Amino acid sequence: MTTSIHINVDQSKGIINKNIYGHFAEHLGRCIYEGIWVGEDSPIANTNGIRTDVLEALKDLQIPVLRWPGGCFADEYHWKDGIGPSEQRKRMINTHWGGMVENNHFGTHEFLMLCEMLECEPYVNGNVGSGTVQEMQEWVEYMTFDGESPMANLRKENGRDKPWKVTYFGVGNESWGCGGNMRPEYYADLYRRYQTYVRNYGENQIYKIACGANVSDYHWTETLMKNAGQWMDGLSLHNYTFAHSWEEKGNATSFPENEWFLILKNALIMDDLITRHSAIMDQYDPNKRIGLIVDEWGTWFNVEPGTNPGFLYQQNTIRDAMVAGLILNIFHNHSDRVQMANIAQTVNVLQAMILTEGDRMLLTPTYHVFNMFKVHQDATSLPLFIDSDTYQYNGESIAQVSASASRATDGKLHISLCNVSHNEEADLCISLSGLVDSTHIRTIQGTILSGNQIDAHNTFDQPETLAPASFDGASLHEDQLKVKIPPMSVVVIAIH
Ligand code: AHR
Repeated sequence: MTTSIHINVDQSKGIINKNIYGHFAEHLGRCIYEGIWVGEDSPIANTNGIRTDVLEALKDLQIPVLRWPGGCFADEYHWKDGIGPSEQRKRMINTHWGGMVENNHFGTHEFLMLCEMLECEPYVNGNVGSGTVQEMQEWVEYMTFDGESPMANLRKENGRDKPWKVTYFGVGNESWGCGGNMRPEYYADLYRRYQTYVRNYGENQIYKIACGANVSDYHWTETLMKNAGQWMDGLSLHNYTFAHSWEEKGNATSFPENEWFLILKNALIMDDLITRHSAIMDQYDPNKRIGLIVDEWGTWFNVEPGTNPGFLYQQNTIRDAMVAGLILNIFHNHSDRVQMANIAQTVNVLQAMILTEGDRMLLTPTYHVFNMFKVHQDATSLPLFIDSDTYQYNGESIAQVSASASRATDGKLHISLCNVSHNEEADLCISLSGLVDSTHIRTIQGTILSGNQIDAHNTFDQPETLAPASFDGASLHEDQLKVKIPPMSVVVIAIH
């Protein structure tokens, strides 16, 4: 069957907030240390201690926002341990993640320097679980106050005269779990208290993000919206994709064929979660002032054999690329409520953009999808109706094709498509209504990322097995695009 797609190119569903393309870097395993921070004295080429190869690759991605320092680590992090001369900073054990020594060499100054280098917004996650209100208040003052105060003076003593711009601040992380095992009623009260002291100094306006639900905990969302909605700008949501369950995550590579299907089916749960959490938010916030902030998402597999189980290091295949494409399309289609998302995590942890080994680095298939899809950042989301062929496996079925479309400020249209079938080509007919005149279309360009086996991936010896290539499988017939997409492919079509 042909999959039919109808796009209204002259209409708008609102703007796709570029922050949907956000990232997350935690003090976990080899994400910060080795993956991003190597220190100025490292033999690995670096820029002020940040490894240059990773920095350049991340710059190309046009990361809009970066969340730090956790995750579970955030509720154990005491920011004053990470400022001042680095040789004098406290050494401690990262108890939550793999028991490695945390030397605090990467702290507030280093993180905010990284954000400046990437030209992205910092999203700092504060400590509610084991930190005090005073500690949180002083952190914000340290980073953002431009005047005479103990914390602003301390910042100056540490070499930074002017305050930084810090827009996004999270008040606790997973407060229902590693962040304190709280009930939503209790956390809602704590949130109200802590956020009171997260102050706006001068021009710096903070967007306050409350800890939101774990997956389908709708009671959490309801309670937070009811009791604390008026004091928040964003409410988070965490949802990871496993092959079977948290207990049976499956492997990142060498997995059975049924786990290809299961992961893609489970990735689609995101759509249902956003729909249902948004419906609750709508009751308390019909004007959609409060953003749903999906600040942890992505695949979570068993760690690579022989690696520290607490480091969460996993390979990344064409299947991860499909998950990224599916979920980014879902975010686009919910751009009225989803204002930010942060995939977990940037380097060497979970569904990473980049993997490193010593001085070597590779870009994962997920990186390539983010790079191909970045054209949607801050573009106008277009109404899209899809009647997809089905992808069937072992008596179960999901849609074979996922799609979204947007119009960039320069007028270019972008359509992103995923064919999730592991063995069948997708035949598409895309009608574009609202074109003034299809003869005005000057160019149709496409880019494709495709796999030739279900666990195709890049290795340090063969880092370009999977890389985007140009796609010429789309042709225009009046106002209809005919497209053929190979199995296991993500495609972005640009129409000028
Ligand atoms: O991303 C890994 C961990 O997953 C984070 O630290 C935590 O917030 C979540 O449970």
